[in-house]
Amino acid sequence: MSRTVYVNGEYMAEEEAKISIFDRGFLMADGVYEVTSVLDGRLIDFEGHAKRLQRSLDELGMQSPVSMDELLEIHRELVAKNGIEEGLVYLQITRGAPADRDFVFPDPAETPPTIVLFTQNKPGLAESPVARMGIKVISIPDLRWHRRDIKTVQLLYPSMGKMMAKAAGADDAWLVENGKVTEGTSNNAYIVKGGKIITRELSNDILHGITRAAVLRFAREAQMEVEERPFTIKEAQSADEAFITSASTFVMPVVEIDGVQLGNGKPGPVAKRLREIYLEESRKAAV
Ligand code: PDD
Repeated sequence: MSRTVYVNGEYMAEEEAKISIFDRGFLMADGVYEVTSVLDGRLIDFEGHAKRLQRSLDELGMQSPVSMDELLEIHRELVAKNGIEEGLVYLQITRGAPADRDFVFPDPAETPPTIVLFTQNKPGLAESPVARMGIKVISIPDLRWHRRDIKTVQLLYPSMGKMMAKAAGADDAWLVENGKVTEGTSNNAYIVKGGKIITRELSNDILHGITRAAVLRFAREAQMEVEERPFTIKEAQSADEAFITSASTFVMPVVEIDGVQLGNGKPGPVAKRLREIYLEESRKAAV
């Protein structure tokens, strides 16, 4: 069945949706995005995603074509129109489509940004069988640009990373720079040692995950110890547990790193507990 999508102020069937070949998102990856999950037909952590979107836009000197209130309205409308109970809402804003291809940014007064939103239906997102098994990751060098705090649509290297993981019989890749893990291809990375949750501190080296912020807050509220610092793959391989977080995986246990099994090879208690708390609390706060 055809989806209803949102393009530059209009709701339309996905087949009708068209973007110019001069769009800078297409030509230059000059755009930002957000992914918000939907549970029980409601948006999870919407405010965090909206705030980070604004920050990404500000960092790139781009204007939002809609207010944050309108953004919430569009998200809700798409969820309703497409009957999404569990799934994801994707949003992209690009610097628009100038008359010619040019490296120089167009004048925003002449070239409005392009905005696109669409949904993906994912029944079973919360009760994921993968989360009961845990995932395997490999490590690869982090070859991305150095403004990973901006959520841009330059996703080629993360895609290549997922393909490298697939070729190695794993599920995902952790990116390593100067000997330390930065994050996963599309998620933040954590280890657990002696009950302590260890994850890299916020900087331009990683995306400031919205799920990360919520999970660390819930962990601290539950009196779990959190240490924000980088770690090596070797340290991760000897950790008690590991996991990732993102809007599309929530809290996902990691059971193998570069072929080395963690503990008994099953999801650990801390990751399991954090997943439960995250799902419970964020469902309560969903909008
Ligand atoms: N990815 N790090 C990177 C590089 C990411 O792409 C993402 C999200 C995260 C986690 O951020 P959050 O908790 O706000 O989802 C960390 C989304 C889900 C994606 O690209 O599909």
